[in-house]
Amino acid sequence: MDIPLGVVMDFEEYYLYSKAYSDIESPEYKKRLEELKPYLTSLMRERGRVLDLACGVGGFSFLLEEMGHEVVGLDISDFLLEKARAYRDTRDSEVEFVKGDARKLPFEGGTFDYVVFLGNSIVHFTPLELNQVFKEVRRVLKPHGLFLLHYNDMRELLPILEGSEVIADGYWVSQIRKDKEEKYFIAVFESPKGKFEVKFNLWGKTAVELLSKLYFVREESIEIKENSYLDVLRRK
Ligand SMILES: C[S@@+](CC[C@H](N)C(=O)[O-])C[C@H]1O[C@@H](n2cnc3c(N)ncnc32)[C@H](O)[C@@H]1O
Repeated sequence: MDIPLGVVMDFEEYYLYSKAYSDIESPEYKKRLEELKPYLTSLMRERGRVLDLACGVGGFSFLLEEMGHEVVGLDISDFLLEKARAYRDTRDSEVEFVKGDARKLPFEGGTFDYVVFLGNSIVHFTPLELNQVFKEVRRVLKPHGLFLLHYNDMRELLPILEGSEVIADGYWVSQIRKDKEEKYFIAVFESPKGKFEVKFNLWGKTAVELLSKLYFVREESIEIKENSYLDVLRRK
């Protein structure tokens, strides 16, 4: 797929180009599933109703369904949801894919045993927005329901990312630019054909922990790999 040259890209388009987030059959996507699978299996032993928050093209929704859960996947992107539904139609799946905003969830309170928020989706939310998301997660969880939050410490990762991250055929991160207050960063992706930019919010571990503490009790923070965490949070 050709990527437009020299443009600031919407994150939806970025995900469509990035195999690790859009192509369930790609080694990049499968690696992400394999990395988290053992933890999800042991933390979600009891079957229940699961919300896969910001589900993208739905790979984790299908995995959770295979583990025996009843799964609803929610995302704001029509593009990605279309792809998720197309994947669903090629397999024996009953995952319900819903369009919605994580900041204002279209569900009654106390309806999910688990909410999972995987794949470092927090980069799409400012602090005020993420606060709203956490509040909503707490609202839709059943009492003592579990919230699994998977994210990367971008403050630590940024210097490593620059020059190394390959997102699609021949595209890599050539530059990272931060605003003065270090609230967000712009990643410049480059290939011999041209470059494009995507803007993300800059979250570090300490800030995520402080915010989640307002709404949840942290049972565990599992370091999946360097600078990548799965926080196990229980509804307060
Ligand atoms: C890093 S991707 C992760 C997707 C999926 N969880 C995975 O691991 O493959 C982030 C996702 O957040 C979604 N997203 C961004 N803003 C959102 C919002 N306000 N509400 C719901 N989803 C949102 C994007 O469309 C995208 O699918």
